[in-house]
Amino acid sequence: MTKAQSSIFGGFCFSSQEIRSTQTRCVRFFCRKPKTGILMLNMGGPEKLEDVHDFLLRLFTDTDLMQLPVQNKLGPFIAKRRTPKIQEQYSKIGGGSPIKAWTTMQGEGMVKLLDEMCPETAPHKFYIGFRYVHPLTEEAIEQMEKDGVERAVAFTQYPQYSCSTTGSSLNAIYRYYSSRSDRPKMRWSVIDRWPTHPLLIECFAEHVVNELEKFPAEKRDDVVILFSAHSLPLSVVNRGDPYPQEVGATVQRVMDRLGHSNPYRLVWQSKVGPMAWLGPQTDEVIKGLCQRGKKNLLLVPITFTSDHIETLHELDIEYSQILGEACGVENIRRAESLNGNPLFFRALADLVQSHLKSNEPCSRQHTLRCPLCVNPICKP
Ligand code: FES
Repeated sequence: MTKAQSSIFGGFCFSSQEIRSTQTRCVRFFCRKPKTGILMLNMGGPEKLEDVHDFLLRLFTDTDLMQLPVQNKLGPFIAKRRTPKIQEQYSKIGGGSPIKAWTTMQGEGMVKLLDEMCPETAPHKFYIGFRYVHPLTEEAIEQMEKDGVERAVAFTQYPQYSCSTTGSSLNAIYRYYSSRSDRPKMRWSVIDRWPTHPLLIECFAEHVVNELEKFPAEKRDDVVILFSAHSLPLSVVNRGDPYPQEVGATVQRVMDRLGHSNPYRLVWQSKVGPMAWLGPQTDEVIKGLCQRGKKNLLLVPITFTSDHIETLHELDIEYSQILGEACGVENIRRAESLNGNPLFFRALADLVQSHLKSNEPCSRQHTLRCPLCVNPICKP
């Protein structure tokens, strides 16, 4: 070792053989082949304004999410027309969606816990598979195959199952393999729903309590809690999609956990287009309650676990600021999304651990196709 090398190593002197063996150990530690890969499935959101068009294009041409007449022409047309408006919304929330940053943090927290909790399936590695932005589900699967993952878990990040969301992501995995001649090298299974997982309920309850405490003490008992979920077209609901029932189950468990401390309603947001959607709509409910003298409201996003445009723009700006002021609310607040809550990382790790231990390919509920499904790709 030269004098210079010696000073780099803090004055300690190592033989070249010792250095080589330390380096080998480090490489082994940092480059361990993942045994279990957890694919975190979600819709994703544009990170930058220039990504908005491609995000909308993939969304409006996804036939699992929505069916439009001549969709291959109408979808691109709608995407192009809506791009400026949606870009404006993203520019108001900081220029892009934070969903990838939050999912990365959640994935890191989850696998760190899993490596401690389940050494038999370690090392664990998380992958992000978005439906409408990079990293796309297909890109993530390719990486998992390249990494030599043995055991793959498709883990939906939507706690409540809908064929338009989780179903669309699972169909993307199915299409990936059916478009190739080679069979998957990894052994796959699916966490397809978790609407009443105890730690998920605990996280939501914690966030509701934290926000209720910010209301003036004399108003707190009168606060109406509005659990706001992304709505669905009634055509989807009426074919037997399980989503409304599962969202209701989450709400019920959260209120049970809170001891039914306040009156509440389940309301539905983000309707688009002229078709009939599941209601009542969140904005109509805010107006209606204010007209009836209920002017202390707490909005709780109950179907997404991370912040996204529907919380940061629709709930915070459109409803809490603009509509709230127009309706004369006294206090309107929004419970924080689960984002970086360490208890939520534990919920994710616990879900994966129990799933791996169960050795089940999916939930029993997932074996039942929507009774009125007409999509040939949906597998029973
Ligand atoms: S649309 Fe639900 S299973 Fe096909």
